[in-house]
Amino acid sequence: MSEIDAKKCFDVALDLVKQAGKVVREAIKKKKNIETKSSAVDLVTESDKAVEKMLISGLSEAFPDHKFIGEESVSAGQKCVLTDEPTWIIDPIDGTMNFVHSFPYTCISVGLWVKKAALVGIVYNPVLEQMFTAIKGQGAFLNGEKISVSGETELGKALVFSEMGTSLDPEKVNTVLTNITNLMPKVHGCRAMGSSALHSAYVAMGAADVSYTFGVHCWDTAAGSLLVKEAGGIVIDTEVSVG
Ligand code: IPD
Repeated sequence: MSEIDAKKCFDVALDLVKQAGKVVREAIKKKKNIETKSSAVDLVTESDKAVEKMLISGLSEAFPDHKFIGEESVSAGQKCVLTDEPTWIIDPIDGTMNFVHSFPYTCISVGLWVKKAALVGIVYNPVLEQMFTAIKGQGAFLNGEKISVSGETELGKALVFSEMGTSLDPEKVNTVLTNITNLMPKVHGCRAMGSSALHSAYVAMGAADVSYTFGVHCWDTAAGSLLVKEAGGIVIDTEVSVG
C-alpha cells in the first residue's frame, strides 16, 4: 500500500463535502421523495442517493485505488467490507428523518479509514453552517477553530445524547426506553438530536458530555469517532474499541 497523503485526502473530501452541502441546503427546503428501508421510520430520499453518488464519484476520480462504504450503496445491496485498504465511509445525509421534516439538525458525514483506523473525519451541517473536521494527530476543528471535549467526568453533571434508533421492533423500542428511564435520574439531562454523527461532533465541541447509541452503522460513527478522539475524548464500542 503506497503512503497516504492525509492532507490531500482531507482537502479533496472537504471540497466535495462543501459541494454536497449546497445540495442538502437547497433540498431541505423542498418537498422530498421518500422511500423506506429497514422500517417505516428508516428513510431515504433522492438527496441521500444524489449526495452519496456525488461524493463517491469525486473521491474515486481523485483516488482511483480507494475503497468505499456508503450507506445508500450498502442499502442497495453492496457489501459492507472494511479492509486495511484506504476506505471512505460515507453517510450522505445523517439524520434523514430530520432532513425530511426540514429540521435543521442533519449532516454529511465522511470518514477515511486506513488499516482499520480513522485518518480523516468530516461532519458538515450545511443548514447551520457547522463544518467539523479532523485529521488524525492534528486535533479537531469547528469552522477552522480548535475544539475540545468538555472534560466533565461526573455523570450527574453530564448532558447525555442518546438516540431513538430506526427500529420499531417492540423489544428494541423497549430497550431504548428502559435505557432512558434508567439514565434520566442519574444525569444532568438527556437529549436526542436525531443524528448520531452530529451527536459525536457536539460532544467533540464540548456542547454535550456523552453520546451513546445502539444499533448504529459504521457510516454513523466513522467520522464522528475521530472528531471525539482528536478533541480529547474517548470512544468505546461495547464489544471492541473503535479505531
Ligand atoms: C440514523 C441517525 C440516527 C440513528 C439511526 C441512524 P440516517 O442515520 O444517525 O441518529 O439513531 O440509527 O440510522 O439513517 O439518518 O443516516
